[in-house]
Amino acid sequence: MKQEELQAIASQLKHPKGEKGIEMGNMMNETNINMTHHSIQNLHITAGNTILELGHGNAGHVAFIFEQAENIKYYGLEMSELMFQEARQINRNFVSQKQAFFSIYDGDTIPFQEASFDKIFTVNTIYFWQEPEKLLSEIYRVLKPKGILCITFAEESFMKQLPFTQFEFELYSTEKAEELIAKSEFKIINKETLTEKVKSKTGELVDRAFTTMVLEK
Ligand SMILES: C[S@@+](CC[C@H](N)C(=O)[O-])C[C@H]1O[C@@H](n2cnc3c(N)ncnc32)[C@H](O)[C@@H]1O
Repeated sequence: MKQEELQAIASQLKHPKGEKGIEMGNMMNETNINMTHHSIQNLHITAGNTILELGHGNAGHVAFIFEQAENIKYYGLEMSELMFQEARQINRNFVSQKQAFFSIYDGDTIPFQEASFDKIFTVNTIYFWQEPEKLLSEIYRVLKPKGILCITFAEESFMKQLPFTQFEFELYSTEKAEELIAKSEFKIINKETLTEKVKSKTGELVDRAFTTMVLEK
């Protein structure tokens, strides 16, 4: 594949847009659903929780969140206008029932008041954080005391084999993520690395290692 094509894939993963972006949103939701469910399960959602997700993509997994407990409110933040639109469309019933709320933000400043959320999670976005320390402190600010943050990402050892990750991506190993978190006020309460089979771009099954870091305010 040419360098321009690899760069285009990386740009779509970072910021889906246009017709290709819709396809990318569908593909990401399908390929990453196991990672997304792992992140959600580690939140241990209980009745009445208010949840925030950063970078939900097309948000095809939001129904799964509402299956976790009664009386939940879900807030989704995206940087991609297209993913915001797709997420609203796919989850229109939850939106009209005022259970799910979607908005766009700049990736740096979380547009909510301090202590707004019981649980926050994000899957496959850490590679694109513009100012990781600043975003972590923003997440800390909007979490309630004792609130939980789950960060789920594919391990650097796997990601660096994908030719497009040389563009746009900042790759993380568990150790590197721990170093970042150590600069924040969060406490790491759990971390788990799993390996799953995923289909590669050329069709064969490959092992993907991914990690969920569970942090407490
Ligand atoms: C690789 S996709 C992952 C989507 C979904 N979470 C998944 O795992 O399938 C990254 C998504 O995060 C969004 N994104 C990138 N940087 C972000 C940031 N700093 N905060 C929130 N979303 C971000 C992109 O627009 C894109 O929709």
